[in-house]
Amino acid sequence: MSDSITLPGGDWPTLEPGWVWLCGAGPGDPGLLTLHGLNALRQADVVIYDALVEKTILDWAPEAEHVYAGKRGGKPSAQQRDISLHLVDLARAGKRVLRLKGGDPFVFGRGGEEAQTLVQHGVPIRIIPGISAGIGGLAYAGIPVTHRDVNQSVTFVTGHDQSGEAPSSLNWNAIAQGSQVIVIYMGMKHVQRIADALMAAGRPADEPCAIVCSATTGDQSVLETTLARMTADIAESGLEPPAILCVGRSVLMRQVLDWQAMASGSAPRDLDPLGRGRPAERA
Ligand SMILES: C[S@@+](CC[C@H](N)C(=O)[O-])C[C@H]1O[C@@H](n2cnc3c(N)ncnc32)[C@H](O)[C@@H]1O
Repeated sequence: MSDSITLPGGDWPTLEPGWVWLCGAGPGDPGLLTLHGLNALRQADVVIYDALVEKTILDWAPEAEHVYAGKRGGKPSAQQRDISLHLVDLARAGKRVLRLKGGDPFVFGRGGEEAQTLVQHGVPIRIIPGISAGIGGLAYAGIPVTHRDVNQSVTFVTGHDQSGEAPSSLNWNAIAQGSQVIVIYMGMKHVQRIADALMAAGRPADEPCAIVCSATTGDQSVLETTLARMTADIAESGLEPPAILCVGRSVLMRQVLDWQAMASGSAPRDLDPLGRGRPAERA
């Protein structure tokens, strides 16, 4: 166990031997880890981490064993079961186990399955939420996931299911018609099918879309496009996963809220991109 650090605010939980804490590491930038996550890293004997966990976060657990358990893109679920059972074995061996997952462990991260397996085997758990890429990643791109002039709801969907196919259980008609803003995880592989399904269900071809790749990391790149042009623009740009796709007019807000560009000296492209013609805060 690492030497303890003093965190502000009183009693921080102790990671006891035989316990597993499932923790979200956030979308990339280590600064987006929570204090509970940091507290966990400082106590763990072993950290089992996923592919999208930013590796420098592991530096906060210098004395722990670091075990890579990454898998990308809808690999068979047997491997998932192996990971869960490995966690059980480690806990039963009396280790203080930290299961570190990208973003939030319960958002398209199979954290629920792992936690359920642990409970079924009598292993005590704690869940530490993290900042999900579909919220924090968009924020780093200057896109508010809700904005009262745009949306009173947001829908998070996955672009593929366990088999790697576009999820057959999703009702794209209902999503297109009922969701003001749609945030799509793992959408790159089936982007053409998703865009076609949304347009066939009535979403305008020129609806603003953004693709945010490697969000919050030093490699972050953002593509602004439209539903009709999205597939071709992604191919032309050469952008690669991991990526979050955002469909909706909130993407326009990037023209005034691209804070990273502004920090580098760029002026906002449009102070009123939604065309409200009034100060932002006036009711
Ligand atoms: C298995 S899901 C895990 C999601 C994670 N639990 C979360 O809450 O963000 C992996 C997908 O999340 C998205 N993702 C995760 N980190 C990302 C990042 N830094 N930039 C863009 N997309 C990211 C991508 O769609 C990626 O394919």
